[in-house]
Amino acid sequence: MEDKKIIIAIDGHSSTGKSTVAKQLAKALGYIYVDTGAMYRAVSLYAMRNGYIDESHFDEEALEKSLPGIDLQFEINPKTGLAEVLLNDENIEQEIRTLRVSKHVSKIAAVSKVRKKLVEQQQKMGVEKGVVMDGRDIGTVVFPNAELKLFMTATAKDRAERRYIELKEKGENVTYEDVLKNVVNRDHIDSTRKDSPLKKAKDAIKIDNSNLTLDEQFKQILKLAKATIIAS
Ligand code: DC
Repeated sequence: MEDKKIIIAIDGHSSTGKSTVAKQLAKALGYIYVDTGAMYRAVSLYAMRNGYIDESHFDEEALEKSLPGIDLQFEINPKTGLAEVLLNDENIEQEIRTLRVSKHVSKIAAVSKVRKKLVEQQQKMGVEKGVVMDGRDIGTVVFPNAELKLFMTATAKDRAERRYIELKEKGENVTYEDVLKNVVNRDHIDSTRKDSPLKKAKDAIKIDNSNLTLDEQFKQILKLAKATIIAS
C-alpha cells in the first residue's frame, strides 16, 4: 500500500537552514518542496524595481494596488531538480538571494494584503499534500493542521556566520557585521509584526541546530517524518 501523504511545515528564524533540510526531506520522501520565503523575496524585488521601496521610503499603498499584476510561479531547474521562482514569467532565483533584497523583505512581508495573496497560493499548493513547506507562518497560519510541524532555531551568531559564508561563496561583497545586523533586524521585524508574526506553533517540535551537523539534523528529522507518516 502506498504511504499516506502528509504536510510538513518548517518554520523558524532567518538563516536556520530551513530550506536545506526541507529540500533534503522532500527529495527523500518524493514530496514537493515549497520555499515561501522566495515568494516574499520575489514581491520585494518587484517593489524595489518599481521604486515602491528603498532605503528611505516605502509606498505601501502603491505596492498593494499593484498586487494583481504580480504573478508568481515555480519552475523546476532540470540541472538541480529544484523549484525556482518566476516573477511574471522571469526567473529571478539568483537576484532574490542577495543581501539587497534581504534588507527590504521583512517590511514587505509585514503587509497584510501581500500575506493574504501569498498564503492563498501556498494553501492551493498543499491541497494534495505530499508537500514540505518552509517559512515563518506555515504551522501557525498556512497549514495549522499540518501533520508534522518543526520550528528551527540557532543562535544569531551561528546563523550569521553560515549566511556570510554562503553569500561570500556566491561572490557577494558583504561584511560579517552587515549580515549579522540583517539577521537580527529581520528576526525582530518578523517576530513583532501584527499579521502572522513568527512564533512556534504549540504543537511544533523545536530543533536547535547550533550544535548539529547537517547530517545529524537530517537523520533526526527524517526519522520524525517517517514516524509521522506511519502514524497518520
Ligand atoms: O526564509 P527567507 O529568509 O527567504 O524569508 C525572507 C523573509 O520573508 C523573512 O525575513 C520573513 C518573510 N517570510 C514570511 O514572513 N513568511 C513566510 N512564510 C516566509 C518568509
